[in-house]
Amino acid sequence: MGIFYGILSWTALFLLFMVLIAFLGFCLYIKYIHMAYDYIPGPPRDNFLLGHVPTFLKALKNDDVIHDKFKEWCETHGSVCRINFLHHVIVLVTCPEGIKEILMSPKYPKDDAYKKIGNLFGVRFLGNGLITAQDHEQWYKQRRIMDPAFSSLYLRGLMDAFNERAEKLMLKLTDVADNQTEASMLKLMNFVTLDVIAKVAFGVDLDHMKDKSVFTKAIALTLKGMIYQIRDIFFKFHPKNQPFIKEVNEACRMLRATGAQWINERKAAMRNGEDVPKDILTQIIRTAGKEGSMTSEDEELMLDNFVTFFIAGQETTANQLAFCILELTRHPEILEKAKIEVDDVIGMKQMISYEDLGKLIYVSQLLKETLRIYPTAPGTTRMLPEDTIIDGINLPKGFVCFFSSYATGRMEKFFKDPMTFDPDRFHPDAPKPYYCYFPFALGPRACLGQNFAQMEAKLIMAKLIQRFDFTLSPGQSFDILDNGTLRPKSGVVCSVRHRNHNN
Ligand code: HEM
Repeated sequence: MGIFYGILSWTALFLLFMVLIAFLGFCLYIKYIHMAYDYIPGPPRDNFLLGHVPTFLKALKNDDVIHDKFKEWCETHGSVCRINFLHHVIVLVTCPEGIKEILMSPKYPKDDAYKKIGNLFGVRFLGNGLITAQDHEQWYKQRRIMDPAFSSLYLRGLMDAFNERAEKLMLKLTDVADNQTEASMLKLMNFVTLDVIAKVAFGVDLDHMKDKSVFTKAIALTLKGMIYQIRDIFFKFHPKNQPFIKEVNEACRMLRATGAQWINERKAAMRNGEDVPKDILTQIIRTAGKEGSMTSEDEELMLDNFVTFFIAGQETTANQLAFCILELTRHPEILEKAKIEVDDVIGMKQMISYEDLGKLIYVSQLLKETLRIYPTAPGTTRMLPEDTIIDGINLPKGFVCFFSSYATGRMEKFFKDPMTFDPDRFHPDAPKPYYCYFPFALGPRACLGQNFAQMEAKLIMAKLIQRFDFTLSPGQSFDILDNGTLRPKSGVVCSVRHRNHNN
């Protein structure tokens, strides 16, 4: 027995020794990383081992917008700014030439962070869909097939659907105004953009869905899960987080199961020779190849893109609209200018045409300025496939560069008096921002749905301004919730009144 315990304690000692050696080795490696890359300017590390991770954890805990930190760091340490995550180093890039070089070229792929959101805590989520595909060929094949569903010719044909869904929102707002109650504009905008994407992209009428908020909640939950998974590498190990992780997993499964159901219904319609629209769903099915030769990975890829379009195509636009309304509540002079334009272009008309949208120049400026201060998808990353010099700093092959439209959009160096909300910055005669404003990213991996989103947003804003006045309710704030995407923290609860057109 004594010998047995003796062997056990020697084994334990040996294991402890090995762990200590491994830890020491890791510390030496971290020291090497510091010595190798500390020539890149950056803020002091919080901690030798963790680098800047504690700052990220603190921001998560306090519900801060991490991009405020990025902005502060770039203003203090320069346009190429180092951040350490344990043994990883990434750089924030805010110099326009660097942004242009990297984002505009297909040479720089998306980095492994995108792989991380392929799965959420072990459940497949965005997989290898359009946003997350890293391999150029795999991405390009999908993008080429999806492009026709976003051509201006196709989008023109969506005006009826956009109008019809926006009219439902107007009915709801009419109710609110008639009853002199209040409404969360953020929630309403989420419902309308969800309606639009379901109808326009997937041909599904969500009206029959009793509780649409289940769907919106699932989207919000997965977005939140995404951000925890990326920013906190220890999150999944903590027992107290397990109920949340379970909820996120269920939300992922629910979204994918809905996708599978809608895809199967559409495929059945195609098999029966029915006349199906050439919408996003049809194109998603086309990306997967022929029926007979379809692999299980093809099937999964269709679901990846189903989830991708829901995630990419709904919340970002809803949040943009909500931020825009929020800013209008404190800028009556801007609202007045928008009203004059809307009255002039669409008057009392209910159906807005594609041509009308083109004439709503000031409303466009308003939406662009909203995305300058509140880029609802605030950043993107790319990997350097070779040593690259940016702003005089040599960055080695394999480094990840982070680009924050939030940081550059709020920097005095690029936008005078940046915290002043001023749509005239985007006046057609004003100089165009030079690679410091990229709320839809730039280059080959730029947002596929940019025109779709801005048509939708403009149409909804125009109808809202045409018919209603709105006042922010007491207790609402202008704070931002950073869930990976940005949204107003307080829900933008407003009292709504019918506009008095006699004034
Ligand atoms: C205000 C609304 C929107 C904003 C601010 C926005 C922003 C962005 C940004 C920044 C990216 C690049 C993401 C990255 O690099 O990681 C992106 C990609 C993408 N967005 Fe949007 N988006 C919006 C609306 C939409 C809509 C309505 C759709 C579809 C209907 C859509 C579909 C996509 C797709 C498919 C990609 C991936 C493109 C690719 O890599 O080929 N987005 N979006």
